[in-house]
Amino acid sequence: MKSIQDIRIRFIGAGNMAASLMGGLINKGITASQMTASDPGQNQREYIERQFQIQTFDENNAHFGMPDMVIIAVKPQIMKQVLEDVAPSIRHTNPLIISVAAGITTKQIADWLNTDLPIVRTMPNTPALIGQGAIGMFANQLVTQAQLQMTEQVMDAVGTSIWVTEEANIDAVTALSGSGPAYFFMFMEYLQQAGQKLGLSESNAALLAKKTAIGSALLAERSPESLQQLKDRVTSPNGTTAAALDSFAENHIEEVIEQALTAANDRSVALSKEFD
Ligand SMILES: NC(=O)c1ccc[n+]([C@@H]2O[C@H](COP(=O)([O-])OP(=O)(O)OC[C@H]3O[C@@H](n4cnc5c(N)ncnc54)[C@H](OP(=O)(O)O)[C@@H]3O)[C@@H](O)[C@H]2O)c1
Repeated sequence: MKSIQDIRIRFIGAGNMAASLMGGLINKGITASQMTASDPGQNQREYIERQFQIQTFDENNAHFGMPDMVIIAVKPQIMKQVLEDVAPSIRHTNPLIISVAAGITTKQIADWLNTDLPIVRTMPNTPALIGQGAIGMFANQLVTQAQLQMTEQVMDAVGTSIWVTEEANIDAVTALSGSGPAYFFMFMEYLQQAGQKLGLSESNAALLAKKTAIGSALLAERSPESLQQLKDRVTSPNGTTAAALDSFAENHIEEVIEQALTAANDRSVALSKEFD
């Protein structure tokens, strides 16, 4: 496997996630000529060519070349159809396959391509669209050490990635970070609403909720202290924070969150079966 400065990447599907990866890779010094993409949407292709000067095609097998890595970035519902379509080109070139599609297993990908290939299944989240994603990744047994490193470099272009060693753990990643942005948006929304009920204007409450979330997240990232230590630091005995945390505890917030993640995990397991 070559260095990331020399690899050739083919994108199948050039929507939001692919565009974020392209932008992140160009920021990392990958040149547009190292990448090609296919997508049926003319507007999307024109956008990609204008924005990144990456050559695009309306047909998945067109000018396929000899890519080292093929990034499949289409909706899960059409993965089977797209992989069966592009299988001859992929079988001919034997690249590393990276999928960003939620709920599609490495076995399904291999079955639909009708061949055994190195496959990495990733689970990004929507902050990846602004380069701040949290990404879980699983590699099948055929992925080499060099390909693992290459994948990390590519996915780190849109955030921070971690590996899981069991594919089933991708369901837990989906429950935590894949769906996670919605939990934080919801929490901010409820903070805003509660602030308004206590007399703040809508705009002030919204701004305070968002800035508190951003500041807390950055502090958690930059501080050497654990989340619990950081929480304890804000909480003086008998103070305002203690009153709020006691109220959360009385309402069993820990169990509520655990149940919610379990529900998301179970739904992720069920969805994978639906795509079969
Ligand atoms: N967005 C996220 O933050 C996020 C997070 C986690 C995972 N993902 C995963 O990333 C994948 C892509 O999501 P996205 O948000 O980037 O969706 P998207 O913006 O809709 O991109 C998908 C692209 O694929 C194109 N397409 C449709 N049929 C195709 C075909 N037969 N061959 C090639 N391309 C085709 C679509 O074109 P048309 O629009 O013309 O149909 C669209 O441009 C999904 O599997 C999703 O599960 C996304």
